[in-house]
Amino acid sequence: MTAKVNKPLIQAALGQKPDRYPVWFMRQAGRYLPEYREVRAKVDFTTLCQTPSLAAEVTWQPLRRYDVDASIIFSDILIPCVGMGQKLTFDKGEGPVLSNPIRSDADLLRLKRADAVKDLGYVGEAIALTKTKLTPTQTMIGFAGAPFTVASYMIEGGSSKNFTEVKRLMFQSPHTFKSLLNLISEVTIDYLKMQHASGADVLMLFDTWAGQVTPEDYRSFILPAVQQITSALKADGVPMIYFPGQGSDRLPELTGLGVDVISIDWRTRLRHAQKLLQEANLNVTLQGNLDPQKLICSEEAVRQETRRIMTEAKDAGLRGHIFNLGHRLLPHTPPESLTWVINELRS
Ligand code: CP3
Repeated sequence: MTAKVNKPLIQAALGQKPDRYPVWFMRQAGRYLPEYREVRAKVDFTTLCQTPSLAAEVTWQPLRRYDVDASIIFSDILIPCVGMGQKLTFDKGEGPVLSNPIRSDADLLRLKRADAVKDLGYVGEAIALTKTKLTPTQTMIGFAGAPFTVASYMIEGGSSKNFTEVKRLMFQSPHTFKSLLNLISEVTIDYLKMQHASGADVLMLFDTWAGQVTPEDYRSFILPAVQQITSALKADGVPMIYFPGQGSDRLPELTGLGVDVISIDWRTRLRHAQKLLQEANLNVTLQGNLDPQKLICSEEAVRQETRRIMTEAKDAGLRGHIFNLGHRLLPHTPPESLTWVINELRS
């Protein structure tokens, strides 16, 4: 029998001492890489996500360039909406567009409870294929959007500035709104279990818009739907990461969430996040939190900012730290800047 190989990201996620400082980058596959743009020139975004060989290829692209500790499957938080019956397109410059926005009970009734294997199995196939080329110490991350964040796109029919339709449904038809979140939670539980069964070692929930509602609305509508997912997956014993975007004010609410890692954006100091989470009785590892816009700076400035975050993580006495950005990589990012971050971490 071969000895069990440790994955630094999982060690850190579970509060163990990692063999080295784990690092990966949110949206490490994407438009900032010329080799990604080359693939995208030939195929539309949704087809790319739905074709396992292509999804695996773009997932591998950053691994060929960078010595990162994790690979996140190439997909999108809106892919399950396709399984639920909405059509997903990415119009040039407009971001995602979802057909038939969900704004009433009648709209809700037209949605179907996606079957994780039949409707979304291509994501599992892409995970299994991607894993064949990972090193034993690299972690395979599967993911989904958290219910509120996914619902916001399903209701608005795309991106939103003021969340007008989302809040209209939440305030004027709370029952419909809750039923939609419940449906998304149920689909997401099956979807994440399928990803885990296909080889995902860690699962991440992206709640990019968690900061868009009051703490009271977060507590009564949004958090219970997240909790539904985390408690259903707890039995599988898979480490989980939760990202509450713009959410430092959400941290005191997270008591009992049952995840191993909280991903922090750059608006909050790691030390402050740690204090709020401890007050909420949460003993978790933190992930983050370099401002992705800093990556346009000089090598010295990028290295200095990397050092600053490492020092802050150390001084804060975190049980564990996974180095990452505070939010996704942006298309204008110079690819070499990621090498500077990694070199500084490893030096
Ligand atoms: O991190 C990775 O490398 C995995 C891939 C990944 C994508 N989207 C690929 C993508 C992940 C984890 C996501 C998550 C996602 N998608 C979130 C949560 C995290 C975040 O970014 O806040 C959200 C809100 C979405 C929805 C989404 N997808 C939007 C609003 C857009 C358009 C704006 C943008 O950032 O480009 C997308 C498109 C998208 N998803 C692209 C990629 C690589 C670019 C599409 C293209 O190639 O044209």
